[in-house]
Amino acid sequence: MVFQKARVPQMQNTGKHTLTAAICYNPPMKTAQLRKIHNKIQAWYQTHGRLDLPWRTTEDPYLIYLSEVMLQQTQVRTVLDRYYFPFLKRFPTLRVLAKAPLDDVLKLWEGLGYYNRVKNLHKTAQILSQGQAQGIAPTLPSTIEELMALPGIGKNTAHAVAAFAFRQPVPIMEANVKRILCRLHQLKSPTDKALWEIAYTIVNKDNPFDYNQAMMDIGATVCTPSSPSCSLCPLGDICKGQETPTLYPTKKKRKVPTREQYVMLSLHDGTLALSQRSGKFLHGLWGFEATEVPLCASEYLGEVTHAYTHFKLLCKVYLHHVTDKKEGMYFTPHEIVKTLAISKVDEKILKLYLKKMQP
Ligand code: ADE
Repeated sequence: MVFQKARVPQMQNTGKHTLTAAICYNPPMKTAQLRKIHNKIQAWYQTHGRLDLPWRTTEDPYLIYLSEVMLQQTQVRTVLDRYYFPFLKRFPTLRVLAKAPLDDVLKLWEGLGYYNRVKNLHKTAQILSQGQAQGIAPTLPSTIEELMALPGIGKNTAHAVAAFAFRQPVPIMEANVKRILCRLHQLKSPTDKALWEIAYTIVNKDNPFDYNQAMMDIGATVCTPSSPSCSLCPLGDICKGQETPTLYPTKKKRKVPTREQYVMLSLHDGTLALSQRSGKFLHGLWGFEATEVPLCASEYLGEVTHAYTHFKLLCKVYLHHVTDKKEGMYFTPHEIVKTLAISKVDEKILKLYLKKMQP
C-alpha cells in the first residue's frame, strides 16, 4: 500500500501550560541537563526503537489517528498482524470511511473489542467529511482543543495525534510513559494532572515525534513493569527510582466483579438465531440471545468467559431446538463468520457450539 504524505504545518509552542505540580515534585531541569537526556533518548531510539512501525513512517494524520485508536487498548502485535492493514485497505481515507455503512466498519474491527472506539472513529470521519468539497480531502485538525472536540478523542489521543501527525511540541501519556515518569520522580500514585505537568517539563520540543515514540519503546522494553533494565536506560542519569524501580507506581489490586449471563442458542436446521444489539453494551454487533435469568428445558453446552476492563463476563450456554423460524434471523455458522460482526464472547460461544456438534 502506498501511504500518501500530508502537509506538516509548523506549530508553535504556546508555553501556556502551567508547571505547578511538576515543580512541587521536582525542580525543572537545567536546559543543558535536559538536552543531554534528550540526546541520549534520541540515540537510544535510533539504535533500539521500533522505527519501522507503519504509523511511524507516514505523515498522513488519518493513518496516525487510526493507529492511535487501535492501540488504545490493544497490543502492537495484534494491531499489526490482524487489523491495521486490512482496515486501511478497505477504508484508505477518511472520506471512504465516512461513506461506509457502520456494519462494514464493525466487521473489520471484529475481535478487537471496545467497539465504541470504532463507532467514534466512523462518526469522526463523517463529521470531518461533512461539507468538504469533493476535490478536497477531509483531514484532522492540528490543535489539541479541536482534536478533543471530536468523538472518542481523549486527552492522550489528542496529544499523540498532535505530536505525531502535526509535530506539535507536546508529550503523550500512554501506560508505558506513565510508568517511566513515576519512576523518574519516585511517585507511587500521582494524579493525572501531576503526570501531565511533569511530562510537559521533560518533552523534547525540538523533536516531539521521536521523543514520544522513544518513551513508549523505552517503557515497553527497558522500563518494564516487573523487571526493568535500569543499566540500559537512557534516562538513567536523572531517574530517582532506579534503586527500587518496581515500587513505582504502586500496583493497583483491582478485583473485577463477575457478571453471569445465560445464553440461548436457538437452532433450526443447522442455522442459529442472532440479533443486532441495540443497547449500550456491544451496540451494533450481532449476538446470540442472552438473559440474566437461568434458562430451563434446554440442552446445556458449557460456559465461556471473557474479561472486560470493569468486569468478567461468564456465559452459561444452552442449546434450544426450534421447530420454526418465526422470530429472529437465522444464519449458518459459516454465514456468521463471513458476514456478521460479532463480539469476542459470541465468537467463543460459536466455537463452543461447533466443538459440541462435532461427531
Ligand atoms: N501505543 C500507542 N501509540 C503507539 C505508537 N505510536 N507506537 C507504539 N505503541 C503505541
